[in-house]
Amino acid sequence: MSSGATSLQCVTARVPAKVNLELMVGPIRPDGFHHLATVFQAVGLHDDVTVEPADDWGITVNGPYADLVPADATNLAMVAARLLANQVGIDLPVHITIDKDIPVAAGMAGGSADAAGALLACDALWGVWSSKTALEDLAAELGSDVPFALLGGTAMGSGRGDQLAPVLGRGRYTWVFALADVGLSTPDVYAECDRLRGDLRIPEPRPSASMMTALRSGDAESLGRALSNDLQPAALSLQPRLEDVLRTGMDNGALGGIVSGSGPTIAFLVPDNQRSLDLAVALTASGTAPAVKRAVGPVHGAHIITTASGPRGSFGSAGHTGPAGLRSS
Ligand code: C5P
Repeated sequence: MSSGATSLQCVTARVPAKVNLELMVGPIRPDGFHHLATVFQAVGLHDDVTVEPADDWGITVNGPYADLVPADATNLAMVAARLLANQVGIDLPVHITIDKDIPVAAGMAGGSADAAGALLACDALWGVWSSKTALEDLAAELGSDVPFALLGGTAMGSGRGDQLAPVLGRGRYTWVFALADVGLSTPDVYAECDRLRGDLRIPEPRPSASMMTALRSGDAESLGRALSNDLQPAALSLQPRLEDVLRTGMDNGALGGIVSGSGPTIAFLVPDNQRSLDLAVALTASGTAPAVKRAVGPVHGAHIITTASGPRGSFGSAGHTGPAGLRSS
């Protein structure tokens, strides 16, 4: 990486949430993480992360979930910005503003999205222009899902979920997300998964042929049948009411339904936009889901949406980024 002077005064990165179409959890690794074989899809719920030069490091979180997110140095976006600053030897504090639309502690990688957004936005603000590989390496240091938040689209994840290979699938899928009013902690869900498995010998996880076939065909019905998540029994064990949400969705036209990541959000695949409205209404009327969101996937990963330069700030779209908002290395 190399740093350079920049006249940018403000950069905003937009970053998507994710759902795991398939999440196979293997044995525990020596570092305490689990071997994973997963298929991520980025969906159209976004956080916007804005960075501006400031006298001191600071962070503001806006939106309905602001109270659930730490607005201090422990926020993963702040950790990400400081990691990049250290890495490139820059001592230029920023104020980070997060406009959150991704539910918190919901299994949709909202914290990872904010970290990816902060990396990308600071990289542009400071004129570092890191290679794609360099940003991915920093992202993996920050968390298992952060590299995917940069990449977006649909991708297979191996290792602890951080080793990515894009999946060239067809189709645009319509999702309905049933949110819970109490979140789940990812480490707690993995620990519950281990507890439920007991002494069972767990094989190395492998992506399923049915998932790859479904994605290649672009057929939503096949994808609905292929959805699977090894963390689902653990999430249901910790929040048994999620069974009612799943049943309500499947009784009201969903092609498939799963716990999203470590939960407690339930992701339902539906045939089209009209059916997503119908299902959202049915879930709300049933009283099983305190809140519902709708989105399509796949969408692009982290990308810069606005920059402002000069003392008075002239806003415009950044033209220097590719679809994933990253330069190739
Ligand atoms: O990497 P990340 O910080 O998102 O992981 C959060 C927690 O989820 C880890 O501390 C670990 O308990 C669990 N985890 C795991 N195996 C993975 C990914 C996450 O056990 N592959």
